[in-house]
Amino acid sequence: MELVVELHNHVLPHLDDGAQTMQESLQMMLFWAEMGYQKVIATPHQNTLMNPSQEEIEMMEARLRQHLQEQELPIFLTTAAEYLLEPELRTRLSALRTFGPKRYVLIEMDFWLPMVGVDQILFELYQCGYTPVLAHPERYTYADRTMLKSWYERGLFLQVNLLSLVQAYGRLAQEKAEYLLEKGWVHFLGSDMHHSTQILAVRRALAHKLVRKRLSTLLNPTLL
Ligand SMILES: [Fe+2]
Repeated sequence: MELVVELHNHVLPHLDDGAQTMQESLQMMLFWAEMGYQKVIATPHQNTLMNPSQEEIEMMEARLRQHLQEQELPIFLTTAAEYLLEPELRTRLSALRTFGPKRYVLIEMDFWLPMVGVDQILFELYQCGYTPVLAHPERYTYADRTMLKSWYERGLFLQVNLLSLVQAYGRLAQEKAEYLLEKGWVHFLGSDMHHSTQILAVRRALAHKLVRKRLSTLLNPTLL
């Protein structure tokens, strides 16, 4: 059994701090195809600093898809986005890029400081019919085990980064990622891969014993 669907990455080239060239994007797609993934949902950043337009996103998606066809890579590409939970997000709630059966919206928060007004924005997301999925809860420096537990218990869907499990972001993020998996509080595993240089690390993470242990409980396959 494998994850089947990759749902958090920056594989589309030239849009954000992710892939730099089409060649790099293709290397990443080839890796996922080799690892048994059937679908990749690209999630370019959407925030005040990195904000590719919808047209730019769709153009890059179409171009990468064409390359996949030319190379006969048997993997499907689609695109959502990764939104920073910031006040500006409230101005565009009517047209967020979603994925999966529950209109999932991938959201991230500030890494260093708990943001004011998060609860209100989350409430508005639910009101608009979206299901927020919190990206890499293990990476927020202020999120201790109590906060992680409260996120899970209030029904927030949690997406842990595979890269966290191989200490790509330090020991604390790894400990929290393992804690979340041990508790069974992880809904989705994603790579958050930005560059092809991270392929080996993601490959190692996929072999992590907690990934293998929890694989059957993850919701990744529901996104096919
Ligand atoms: Fe990301």
